[in-house]
Amino acid sequence: MSVDTPVATGTGTPDVTNAQGYHEFRLGEFVFSRDEYFAYVTWPTGSHIMSVDAFLRALQRDVAWEFFYGTVNFDGVVGTVNHYGTVDLFAGRYNDAYRKAELDYTENVPTPQIKAAFQKMLDDWTNVTFDPFASPHETGSAFGLKNGDNRAAINRHRVTAARMVSMPGDEGLRNDENGHPVNRMFADVPQDEPQIEAEPGFEAELASFNLFAYLSRSPVTWNPSVVSVCADSLFCPTTEEYILPIIHGNDRVEWFLQLSDEITWEVEDRDSGSVRARVVMKAGDVSAMPADIRHQGYSPKRSMLLVWENGSPDLPDLIASGRTPTYPIDF
Ligand code: PHB
Ligand code: FE
Repeated sequence: MSVDTPVATGTGTPDVTNAQGYHEFRLGEFVFSRDEYFAYVTWPTGSHIMSVDAFLRALQRDVAWEFFYGTVNFDGVVGTVNHYGTVDLFAGRYNDAYRKAELDYTENVPTPQIKAAFQKMLDDWTNVTFDPFASPHETGSAFGLKNGDNRAAINRHRVTAARMVSMPGDEGLRNDENGHPVNRMFADVPQDEPQIEAEPGFEAELASFNLFAYLSRSPVTWNPSVVSVCADSLFCPTTEEYILPIIHGNDRVEWFLQLSDEITWEVEDRDSGSVRARVVMKAGDVSAMPADIRHQGYSPKRSMLLVWENGSPDLPDLIASGRTPTYPIDF
């Protein structure tokens, strides 16, 4: 399989664009195109249409998160499965109706190849007005004719602490001066930092920071960042507003701690998409999402969520083979 990107319809010359000014992208037998409002995906047994703003928000996260843990469903039809080295690009694979009609289709692609293709598509299809990571209230339009690019937004630094934010040499704190003003919805969040009184000689070993203040200054939504690491235990807090742009299919258990406000989670069977639960999480609530579900969150106000991940590379196999249960705890 080859990645010929960008490939313009009909001509085979890389720089030809469609009537709206956008390139078409081909990945194996999949073809991706966009016009003023929609993204189109075709594969040998079918085709699909999505609103281009939703498509770009999902694409942005799939690229920035290196295909994340398990499955990233752009919607109920198209998405990716991370095999940590290769990625399945699928259509209808986790959709009962497509499966029964045998219209589903999957291609397995080396990660660098699909990442490069997705990056080019994101770059070409994101106009100067659109920030795929921002809340709908804080971005301009994704729609219309090709109009510049927004590379600063789509290539943002991804926060991944080695030990913890604020440790010497690690990810830094956010403030006005480094371009992180307090978000309009977190104006009431106290900004004071803890005082550290280290014994002489231990100054570089001791750190602490105000996580609420840190999160109140996040410019993006639905983008967990690693703020502290202890072996495979990763604290990945994030600020949420509107709808999680992907439906995440877990390959491991994830814990959610709702730090402020409220999120409603729609939880479905990971493979068929049949409805399993609706979980309403209010500030202080804790839940564990099982390893055999997919979920999408709805946050009516900007909220703070701590996603607690187990980063062990052994988990997908342990769970898929039944040696580890799909749920985290027996009571
Ligand atoms: C998740 O799929 O668990 C997830 C993804 C992004 C978020 C929050 C949760 O911002
Ligand atoms: Fe998830």
